[in-house]
Amino acid sequence: MICGKLWSTMQQQLRHFRVTVIGAAGGIGQPLSLLMKNNKLVTELVLHDVANVAGVAADLSHVATKVHVKSYTGASQMNDAVKCADLVIITAGVARKPGMTREQLFEVNANVVSGAIKAIAEHASYALIAIVTNPVNAIVPMAAEFLKKEDLFDPRRLFGVTTLDLVRAETFLGDFMNVDPRKVSVPVIGGHAGDTILPIISQCKPKFNDDQECREALVKRIQMGGDEVVKAKEGKGSATLSMAFASARFANALLLGLKGRKAPIECAYVYSDVTEVSYFATPLSFGPRGIEKNHGLPPLDDYEQAGLEKALKGLQQSIENGINFAQCH
Ligand code: LMR
Repeated sequence: MICGKLWSTMQQQLRHFRVTVIGAAGGIGQPLSLLMKNNKLVTELVLHDVANVAGVAADLSHVATKVHVKSYTGASQMNDAVKCADLVIITAGVARKPGMTREQLFEVNANVVSGAIKAIAEHASYALIAIVTNPVNAIVPMAAEFLKKEDLFDPRRLFGVTTLDLVRAETFLGDFMNVDPRKVSVPVIGGHAGDTILPIISQCKPKFNDDQECREALVKRIQMGGDEVVKAKEGKGSATLSMAFASARFANALLLGLKGRKAPIECAYVYSDVTEVSYFATPLSFGPRGIEKNHGLPPLDDYEQAGLEKALKGLQQSIENGINFAQCH
């Protein structure tokens, strides 16, 4: 006779996952969908966008993996796109142009994301939701408010994807220290814009031994990594490939958790009581219900503590914008 715990572990191991990408025909959505098509934890990949998504799905369906691909177009098919999803990754929305801040995208992108959130609330209320659309610092609190209105907000299931800040920190520190970036580990906490992005270099592994001037230059480069790409693309958008790489890495950690397997710790922007602001990115562990453990603030030195004070002010403003939007719509 199989005992209950063993039975549920076996059930978990057999679980197949339906992943929906919203904004799948876009600059991030296409490479992200390709990476998810190549993920062994995914059984069904559902693509949604306002146009051109059927072609992307046809193209992807020729990639020789076992993942089954479906596509849905337009607002009228949003419900079908999210129905029964285990994970919905939202990348839809407009990107920055040179000289713009992420916050300036809020009005437009809030309207795009709120449609998806309302559909998820109705048709996939157990899905994990990973939000890539900017400004993440305001869009995540907004999404939470919409879910609260339906009494469906589960703080373990809603994430702002900040993995690109970790990916950049690993790359820039790895280059600087002449170490393979895949061997660098550094927490990046706070939010996903300018000085709300806090790379905690005092906790970097391997240890960062250079002087304060080099460290500050690296922190600045990580914080402004998005602007570096926006400028280089000369008005043709923001980071797409590195963002897709980062989002796929984060999605994989979530799926491993759902499956009851050991998932790597990743930082993400979530509902939080770790600081005085109600949304904050810290290292997280994942399990079958989403966040299993929030590891809280890593140890900070004085320089990082000063950075934290600054970040909290910026975050507070964005969080209020997100909440106000949801309360008025
Ligand atoms: C990034 O960090 O590259 C993204 O948030 C896109 C942007 O607008 O910078």
